[in-house]
Amino acid sequence: MLKKTYYITTPIYYPSDKLHVGHSYTTVAADAMARFKRLLGYDVWFLTGTDEHGLKIQRSAENAGKTPQLFVDGIVAGIKNLWAAMDISYDDFIRTTEPRHKQVVQGIFDRLYRQGDIYKGRYEGWYCTPCESFWTARQVDGGNCPDCGRPVELVAEDGYFFRMSKYADRLLEHINNNPDFIQPPSRKNEMINNFLRPGLEDLCVSRATFDWGIQVPFDGKYVIYVWLDALSNYITALGYTKDETLFHKYWPADVHLMAKEIVRFHAIYWPIFLMALDLPLPKQIFGHGWLIMKEGKMSKSKGNVVDPMVLLERYSSDSLRYYLLREISFGQDGVFSNESMLQRINTDLANDLGNLLSRTMTMMERFFDGIVPAPADGKEEKSDQELRRLALEMPSRIEKLMDELQFNSALETLWALVRRSNKYIDENAPWLLAKKEEKRERLGTVLYNLCEALRFISILLLPYMPRTPRRIWSQLGIETMEDLHKWDSLQEWGLIKPGTKAQRKADLFPRLDIKKELASLLERKTEKEKTGEKTQAPAGKPKHVSIEEFARLEVRVGEIVSAEPVPKTDKLLKLEVNLGQEKRQVVAGIALHYTPQELIGKKVLFLANLKPAKIRGLLSEGMILAATDPAGKVVLTAVDGDVPAGSKIS
Ligand code: MSP
Repeated sequence: MLKKTYYITTPIYYPSDKLHVGHSYTTVAADAMARFKRLLGYDVWFLTGTDEHGLKIQRSAENAGKTPQLFVDGIVAGIKNLWAAMDISYDDFIRTTEPRHKQVVQGIFDRLYRQGDIYKGRYEGWYCTPCESFWTARQVDGGNCPDCGRPVELVAEDGYFFRMSKYADRLLEHINNNPDFIQPPSRKNEMINNFLRPGLEDLCVSRATFDWGIQVPFDGKYVIYVWLDALSNYITALGYTKDETLFHKYWPADVHLMAKEIVRFHAIYWPIFLMALDLPLPKQIFGHGWLIMKEGKMSKSKGNVVDPMVLLERYSSDSLRYYLLREISFGQDGVFSNESMLQRINTDLANDLGNLLSRTMTMMERFFDGIVPAPADGKEEKSDQELRRLALEMPSRIEKLMDELQFNSALETLWALVRRSNKYIDENAPWLLAKKEEKRERLGTVLYNLCEALRFISILLLPYMPRTPRRIWSQLGIETMEDLHKWDSLQEWGLIKPGTKAQRKADLFPRLDIKKELASLLERKTEKEKTGEKTQAPAGKPKHVSIEEFARLEVRVGEIVSAEPVPKTDKLLKLEVNLGQEKRQVVAGIALHYTPQELIGKKVLFLANLKPAKIRGLLSEGMILAATDPAGKVVLTAVDGDVPAGSKIS
């Protein structure tokens, strides 16, 4: 019989920096879902990957003093290591710099142009480089990106446009007719009210001011807009236009998983591109919430990211996976903290699950020499019945919750069985039964039922904690009995054969000393920062900087093209500086030392990758380098000779 297929994707992440635990969150959720469906017998395709083009990556590579390709190769190797360490069972990892992707994206662009969905025009508007998104003047929020709050850049360029408006009505109809298409429902309403109802503007799908991207096939001046490039990964990875069998087997996707901030691209741009290509739409776009820190969203720019590798050095990937999936209600934001993670490990894993296994195994060894006893025939007591019934209900209850991507509720439900099993031990007090010979049969039944409950729990755990079940099976003595590990075996209670040799082994999750753990996590973080594994401003003034540290500064020759005083100040000038490929606005405190007329046409040294800031409400993106003489006079640094604006200083 042909198996039902299931295709699930994560976003393809930007390899502009190491990934953090927020990225792990989506990937672990997708992995749990993929494993769950495989357990149920589906033919699953699970795709993840990296989104490697665009200005943001190009700038990060420049800052690191590497070519973009070399730069992303290094980061992608780290990402693959991370996924291996977290037991991510992807079937394919797509990189947008691979020929199999680039060629197909060029084919898509070409087709859309030939059929008139893409046309040439002129773009004037705002662009947020960190989000790689275009915004209209109406949408930008006081010079900042409405999504991430960082400064937007003014872009004016000829380019290629996609006729979004042509498909807007069809999309709205599709959303209304398919209530599960955008989930959770709050995201659907946001899409309709904030984007579709006000009217879709045509989208600029090319960029001309940088070259790190896929070239427009018939116009080498342009690269394809990174979101058109990136979203296509979901079909290029399946061999769209190259491998019809693979493509038709899995497309349309069952679910595209992501956090809420990129639902817009997936729920509006992507379906419209697909409509233009005459392809069926994905069945569901699910936008989960953010993992936030006490001080707000985890982000590199805030410096509050959690490196999952630091956690994986101390705790098993099963523990971290459990915490991520259990702690936060999928769909909502949730706070990440080391402390809540450690508490979960101690209470749910060490106390509830770990103790259940170790208590059962200890009693099996003590009372039955580790041999699984036979349950008494037909003499079911109330507690036996409750335990068995609860266990047998689990598969359908969990399946329903998983179909709604309610990972936390699925685990909560499963823990009801873990806790019921512990309560079953307390209710039956096997240590008292063991004291009376006439209770020997009852003692056997109780321990048998506990082994069976542990078998149920272990199978149900597989999607979330792929390593722990095998450790449980090895203690129960059923490690090689594959039939007892299958989903279908959950339809029947009592499958472990009496007489099986069980063996108590190491505790699954040793109890942690939370205070000590918190201190050592802090120490590890500081150590990483000190050794430069993570960049941070060094304390005090070091005597030397390494060449790598210097290479992080992007100093360029800048030509001042306009200068004017900032109203209501006497020290500030607003300057426009030409950097060759682009112009920057900066606010400089030099009005007492230079008149605007003196400055125009001057070539100066310019720090181009200084974090943008707002000064008196004006965006300042970079810094003009200057010397200060002993009397406090500011003198601009000059360039000796005629070098084009934008030349890099090294
Ligand atoms: N490259 C684009 C996606 C293109 S998909 C065709 C991108 N990349 S990203 O590296 O910024 O990844 C964003 C995604 O990472 C989020 O949508 C989410 O899946 C995950 N997360 C990153 N930080 C997160 C949190 N703090 N919390 C939850 N998810 C997080 O956008």
